[in-house]
Amino acid sequence: MTVTAFAPGRVNLMGDHTDYTGGLVLPMAIELGTTVTFEPGGDTVTLASTVETEPAVVRIDVADPAGVLPSWARYVAGVVSVVRPAVGGTGRVVTTLPVGAGLSSSAALEVAVALAVGFAGTALELARACQRAEQLASRVPCGIMDQLASAAGRDGEALLIDCTSFEVTGVALPENAEVLVVDSGQARALSGSAYAARRDECRAAADLVGPLRQATLADVDALADPVLRRRAHHVVTENERVLAFADALRAADIGEAGRIMLASHASLRDDYEVSTPALDELVALLARHRGVAGARLTGAGFGGCVVALVEAGVPIDVQRRRSWRLHASAGARRIEG
Ligand code: GLA
Repeated sequence: MTVTAFAPGRVNLMGDHTDYTGGLVLPMAIELGTTVTFEPGGDTVTLASTVETEPAVVRIDVADPAGVLPSWARYVAGVVSVVRPAVGGTGRVVTTLPVGAGLSSSAALEVAVALAVGFAGTALELARACQRAEQLASRVPCGIMDQLASAAGRDGEALLIDCTSFEVTGVALPENAEVLVVDSGQARALSGSAYAARRDECRAAADLVGPLRQATLADVDALADPVLRRRAHHVVTENERVLAFADALRAADIGEAGRIMLASHASLRDDYEVSTPALDELVALLARHRGVAGARLTGAGFGGCVVALVEAGVPIDVQRRRSWRLHASAGARRIEG
């Protein structure tokens, strides 16, 4: 019996560095993704990949995913250590996602592997298992957004996710708009340690003013430490922007949606300090371009991609950078087997 599982990548339209504080995010699953074909049997999970030279060979009783080599096999090991399948198997990984560009290639790999080795459960349970796998593999204390977007994607709809209740609400993308993702060309650097530092700062702020999800701007202003104040200011205003952005999409007001994207980028740059000169330059270039409503860094930052909302059909000159026009797509699924 051959099992085939597919999991999409994601692009986040609004709400970055909010998921791990119980905040709001608005990602969408995309048509690019990762397919795993798998033949169960034996006591290792052995996967070849079309984009890697060495295969992943992971024992089903693997103990320390972060120590596994080659490094891409850590994500497979993370999943195996969380899902704990009773039998292994042999298979193949094929992906249409650019690896390491910020479109959640690792989340797509985890979700597809989890389904291939037999994970059964809801989209939220699948996402939780794969979030844990990612944390074990990378030692980065990531939130749930990427894995949940991949698991719960919907055709034609972005996903408004409340990371306190884990309620997912579909938000249709207006027909007059397209989502353009442009690679800054800057590989993400230092993201692991800086990501963990931001998470710690949010925790420290929440220890003083209570959960950031409920905090007001007055609570934020009362924080004495200027760094914690800026971090909390980003989170509180970003949550508001997610709701305002969802409203703008529903009203097909792409001018307003674009303005909110630029405000989000400024907040990620100035208050949260996760942007880079390459990302800032690319956002500025896009913001000046005819037909672009707005743009912002997407995902963790520190390099990677920018997402822009553009008027449907208008060509955008991204000056030789890699770019993709992406559509909101269905979530992960076992295709057969
Ligand atoms: C990474 C993490 C997500 C989220 C984003 C920032 O993609 O995996 O959980 O925190 O960064 O929004």
